Amino acid sequence: MVTLLNTVEDKVARDICRDYADAPDSLLEILHEVQHKHGHLTDEALRTIAQALNISRAEIHGVVSFYHDYKREVGAKLTFKICRAEACQAVGAKELIAEAEKAFGTKLDASAKDVALEAAYCLGNCALGPAVLVDDNLYGRVDVTKLQEIVARYKAKTS
Ligand code: FES
Repeated sequence: MVTLLNTVEDKVARDICRDYADAPDSLLEILHEVQHKHGHLTDEALRTIAQALNISRAEIHGVVSFYHDYKREVGAKLTFKICRAEACQAVGAKELIAEAEKAFGTKLDASAKDVALEAAYCLGNCALGPAVLVDDNLYGRVDVTKLQEIVARYKAKTS
């Protein structure tokens, strides 16, 4: 029996689409959940979502490439985001970025061995800036000392 690869369905994506009643308006939420389950968005998942929501694959690719948070490949073990929007910049985000670049041996918006160091433009924590998001954990009022503690904790986890 011959199976055409471009007809293979992603069961996880199919189930998640069904949870959202195959509603095209739920595309962002569906993409987010599928990525959370797989760690990235596979070709099979995108094909399945396009078919389930009855939208073109080009439309999905447009959305996925527009939003920086969607990953098409397996990502780093750890995503480390530092807010560099105005409120956080005013209270020391630049120093944190320099410290994180030094600690991980990579530049902002690049990846080291196991870490993706990324800029964020407001994490919704402005009153407690500077803000840092490590995977799903949000930290506020982060200074260089606190950043070093956070980095050490996550380095120990990923090594
Ligand atoms: S400006 Fe940094 S959390 Fe809003």
